Amino acid sequence: MRRIVLAITGASGAVYGLRLLETLAAAGVEIHLTISPAAQQVFYHEMGIELSLDHFDPRSLLPEPWGTWKKATLSHYQFRPLLDDSIQPASIGQLFYYPVRDYSAGIASGSFLTDGMAICPCSMGTLASISHGLSSNLIHRAADVHLKERRKLVLVPRETPLSSIALGNMQRLSEAGAVILPAMPGYYHQPQSLGDLVDFVVARVCDQLAVPHKLGRRWSETPSAGEFE
Ligand SMILES: Cc1cc2nc3c(=O)[nH]c(=O)nc-3n(C[C@H](O)[C@H](O)[C@H](O)COP(=O)(O)O)c2cc1C
Repeated sequence: MRRIVLAITGASGAVYGLRLLETLAAAGVEIHLTISPAAQQVFYHEMGIELSLDHFDPRSLLPEPWGTWKKATLSHYQFRPLLDDSIQPASIGQLFYYPVRDYSAGIASGSFLTDGMAICPCSMGTLASISHGLSSNLIHRAADVHLKERRKLVLVPRETPLSSIALGNMQRLSEAGAVILPAMPGYYHQPQSLGDLVDFVVARVCDQLAVPHKLGRRWSETPSAGEFE
């Protein structure tokens, strides 16, 4: 079983984090989740989902019947179901949650072995903190651990346009071994819905983390592959 750290920060696109969580759970991944207070605001603003981070049940972020968020909340995305009624509860990955100030969490230490970490979406603030090694919350610390241990760290920034400061931070992180994977969906797979665009990005994150998924066809599997060369 793979063990992945997932951090959700306060960049726009909380739906990317939500869909990534669902995809990892459906793949049977053991997930170690942490969420910044700014992400709490974005969740409410973008999706009307109220998170109470001090007494938080991470399963509440999985869709019904596995969690409590209602698929109707995101019906305009038209996601293909990943966690449907046919899935056995035992095949869903375990889910652990840590408050962002909990430096005693396992993920704050290099001795806690993982198969990688994703920050999705990743704010410019979090990007800057990691780039400068600040470790001022659990998300920054866990990312720092992944860099020092030379483990996979995938950052999904969302901002536009990008300042020279943000670009410099991305370059530093890339040189330190992180993968900068912007929330920048392609269109060559002929998306039919907003969900297809979200899944394009989430699929690339899963590929980086070597997590199997069924989030749309790959290029060579697309009927029109080669038409646009
Ligand atoms: C609705 C909303 C959307 C935001 N979108 C972005 C964004 O796309 N990118 C970004 O870097 N910051 C964005 N911010 C600002 C961050 O939330 C803010 O800089 C915060 O300090 C980030 O903290 P964190 O990295 O600990 O989550 C947004 C804030 C709100 C409330």
